[in-house]
Amino acid sequence: MAAAILGVIGGSGIYDLPGLEDIREEAIPSPWGEPSDVLRIGRIGETTVVFLARHGRGHRLSPSGINYRANIDVLKRAGVTDLVSVSACGSFRKELHPGLFVLADQFVDRTFARSSSFFGNGCVAHVPFAHPVGPTLQARIVQAAAAEEVAVHRGGTYVCMEGPQFSSYAESMTYKDAGYDVIGMTAMPEAKLAREAELTYAIIAMVTDFDCWHPNHAEVDVASVVAVARANAGRAARLVARLARDFPGEREDCPVGSHRSLDGAVMTAPDH
Ligand code: ADE
Repeated sequence: MAAAILGVIGGSGIYDLPGLEDIREEAIPSPWGEPSDVLRIGRIGETTVVFLARHGRGHRLSPSGINYRANIDVLKRAGVTDLVSVSACGSFRKELHPGLFVLADQFVDRTFARSSSFFGNGCVAHVPFAHPVGPTLQARIVQAAAAEEVAVHRGGTYVCMEGPQFSSYAESMTYKDAGYDVIGMTAMPEAKLAREAELTYAIIAMVTDFDCWHPNHAEVDVASVVAVARANAGRAARLVARLARDFPGEREDCPVGSHRSLDGAVMTAPDH
């Protein structure tokens, strides 16, 4: 089995990873283009951790402008086996309040302006995606959260919108009525590409707002998203640091097959 290397993608308000030691920065070239930033590769305990700021330092990239394929490609080239996304999100449920970390395990993809596969004409592949999140990786996050006394909600459906505008009231009510739990702009196609790259993926979706459906809360704006994300970045870093410190040395098989998702997925004959 391969050595386990933990990748962490930090979203809005999370541009570095406190606790990461012996850091070196690496700009790994990718045939898919420019990733969001250099990789910061270091160590937490015995575990190698690779951090990438999804929007770039200084938050230069919009959700539609992020090169998700390059990001996943350079993380894969750096040896990452397990990938944790830390992302801000809006909530459609009263009990999923700002500051809570939702460990979503399902996604609805409403994006339409992003390259969402490494495969295409020339090499056709269809990976399974019924269960986008690695249950063992998620269970490790739950254990780390318990150890650090960080409140998390396990499970939930994350709807990913294109943005960059936030939702209209009608859209927000539609998603809420559909039973979705949280909304964000970045988990898709990230989780799909991670699956194609045979990385095990999990998300820590940090609730920053109630979108615009809640009668007693002002509609979401950037100032509140950033304020809540910044206020909770320290807890997110503690959670990730504990996850890393307690991580196994060798990659674990993923019960939903993330580690071998390409087995049997390629349709194109090898000699074409
Ligand atoms: N990111 C944080 N809050 C959000 C919201 N309400 N909608 C979409 N993306 C978000």
